[in-house]
Amino acid sequence: MSSHEQPDQYGVIGHPVAHSWSPFIHGLFARETRQSLTYRLFDVAPADFHERVVEFFASGGRGLNVTLPHKIAAVDVANELTPRAARAHAVNTLAVRSDGRLLGDNTDGAGLVNDLCDNLGVVITRRRILMIGAGGAARGALAPLLALEPSELVVANRTEERAQVLAQDFQDLGTVTGAGFRTISGGAFDLIINATSASLRGEVPAVPDSVIGDETLCYDMAYGKTDTAFIRWAVSRGCTRTLQGWGMLVEQAAESFRVWRGMRPPTAPVLTALKERALRL
Ligand code: ATR
Repeated sequence: MSSHEQPDQYGVIGHPVAHSWSPFIHGLFARETRQSLTYRLFDVAPADFHERVVEFFASGGRGLNVTLPHKIAAVDVANELTPRAARAHAVNTLAVRSDGRLLGDNTDGAGLVNDLCDNLGVVITRRRILMIGAGGAARGALAPLLALEPSELVVANRTEERAQVLAQDFQDLGTVTGAGFRTISGGAFDLIINATSASLRGEVPAVPDSVIGDETLCYDMAYGKTDTAFIRWAVSRGCTRTLQGWGMLVEQAAESFRVWRGMRPPTAPVLTALKERALRL
């Protein structure tokens, strides 16, 4: 693109969305990779979602991140889905293809796995993994986790039936079983991922203490200025390895950036800058 052309337009669409870190993250990615783009916030109510997305792309917009509560609605606005978005039944990234069609992708699961494996050096292969929650966040992460061939992946949910249904849906990809909180068996796990929305309300899923052992890593997809309720619970149960989802946030953004711009931005400096900024506020 020559210098007198308008920068390419991107943004995140959600409701509410005012506190999103995505403009900060993508602004740094653009700077790091010397890409000319703008990234804006779009607070759009569910009733207006479809129309606003169509408008954005009709007026030349190049890509949108989609966040709560629109991730499911975005499946229908897309003309085609990537296999991982189809598996997740949810879209967090919309991109215009060269033929003008809208591609729906989901980078959340890749963001989690990249944070765990690349940033933190966590081994998934042949390890026992406990996924707490059976909503959209859990669903999006199952395929990328199973691709790394854990010895066992247990999906545990407050409403057990949802966990059973979810596990059933992913049977073809690996050893995955559903459970209720009281029916989790097999002792301590190597990795526990909290994919519930409980942290957002300061609540803790009522899983038994026995899931935590000496070597267990507890990862909360949620993040906050201070430890989330889940992280505080894990620490109080003797867990020494805990992490909030700041890295997942940056990694899913990097994966969206790659889908849009064809290049992966460096994430480590952005994660450092994000934490500095967020924890200082
Ligand atoms: P998301 O798309 O963010 O995953 P969701 O589909 O509404 O949102 O799912 C929320 C998840 O958090 C569910 O697994 C929910 O458990 P239920 O299926 O039993 O409702 C879980 N959740 C929310 N609050 C919780 C709490 N206080 N304790 C345990 N699980 C909780």
